[in-house]
Amino acid sequence: MIRDLDSTNGTWFEGSLVSEVRLGPGATLKLVRTALRIEPEAEPLDLPPSQSRRFGELVGESLAMREVFAVLERVAATEVTVLVEGETGTGKELVARPLHEASARRGGPVVAVDCGALPEALLDSELFGHVKGAFTGAAAPRAGLLARADGGTIFLDELGRIPTSVQARLLRVLEERVVRPLGADRERAVDVRVIAASRDDLDAEVAAGRFRADLLYRLGVVRVRLPPVRARREDLPALVAELLRRRGLAEGKPRGPGLDRLHAHGWPGNVRELRNVLDRAIALAPGAARFEDLTIRIDGNLATLDDPLGVRDDLPYGAAREAVLHAFERRYVGAVLARAGGNLAAAARDAQVDRKHLRMLARRHGLVAGPAAPDDAGDGDE
Ligand SMILES: Nc1ncnc2c1ncn2[C@@H]1O[C@H](COP(=O)(O)OP(=O)(O)OP(=O)(O)O)[C@@H](O)[C@H]1O
Ligand SMILES: [Mg+2]
Repeated sequence: MIRDLDSTNGTWFEGSLVSEVRLGPGATLKLVRTALRIEPEAEPLDLPPSQSRRFGELVGESLAMREVFAVLERVAATEVTVLVEGETGTGKELVARPLHEASARRGGPVVAVDCGALPEALLDSELFGHVKGAFTGAAAPRAGLLARADGGTIFLDELGRIPTSVQARLLRVLEERVVRPLGADRERAVDVRVIAASRDDLDAEVAAGRFRADLLYRLGVVRVRLPPVRARREDLPALVAELLRRRGLAEGKPRGPGLDRLHAHGWPGNVRELRNVLDRAIALAPGAARFEDLTIRIDGNLATLDDPLGVRDDLPYGAAREAVLHAFERRYVGAVLARAGGNLAAAARDAQVDRKHLRMLARRHGLVAGPAAPDDAGDGDE
């Protein structure tokens, strides 16, 4: 409720002078030259936990996971934008597909984009497309992924890694529902539902000025946080059964000393680490049919190990090579820095590269503060 206390210039709402008015979300109030918009903070959806123990390929029996399932079930059939958050390996990539399948868009495409895997210029042309000759090497026109997702759903993975310039372009697409490919003189309408995922703390990224608040507000209409495995160890048997089933082993209730070992571990790499532990045990026990036939050994190196390389054979050679190098740099530099406790000099010694060079690489990937040097937009092989 807004009440004007006899102000000189008055309070304006929807073109009229008002003395008292009740405002709903999205309303804009004018006070002289200042416009105030009412934007409610997202309220936690208070739903009873789901009865279901699965959402698409995500499994979980814990209360925490069934609360997540309840929210996902509620929003699936709608047009609502969903932001999935959670630590590495918690299953964020499994959320978009079943949301799409349950919606009226199910006949349309689902297009996934790993926003962290590509350098800025490439990500831009991947998302928005380009016309022939828009830049050197653009020998043919390319429809952007947003245009390809028309009528369907786009999954923006690693949202927190989108460079600021691309964030601004993306916001326009979401606000106006049009895309303009690089070099094009016309925009075209797109009709997409957005599902986004991030392992970064986006509120902290906004506070640090690296992520646009208005974009987070747009994308975070519904925010779902996938809990880490250590907070829901009671899910371990169901997770083991599901992962073994995917590998063609019998999925009966796992038990025995192997299960005790799983329960005792902290799972920094969450379900991905569990998958890696099981995959290694399976590889070392040919002919194993059940969980009890496996020897469970836990090794910290398996925590976040993912599929190697992730080569993009849908890109031209130069761009595909650049994407792999970009991902390699981020992973490598991130790892040596972490091992050295963030000490650049020590990390440079371990990596046997010049400290300045390492700092430049670290900046390029936002791993240390400070702008990337102007010559950083290079091809990653200097
Ligand atoms: N609740 C779950 N039930 C079954 N499988 C799961 C579950 N959570 C994760 N997985 C499996 O664990 C692996 C890692 O999951 P995913 O790739 O979705 O992680 P992520 O959250 O995207 O992590 P990152 O932030 O590192 O990208 C995949 O093989 C996925 O199938
Ligand atoms: Mg992921």
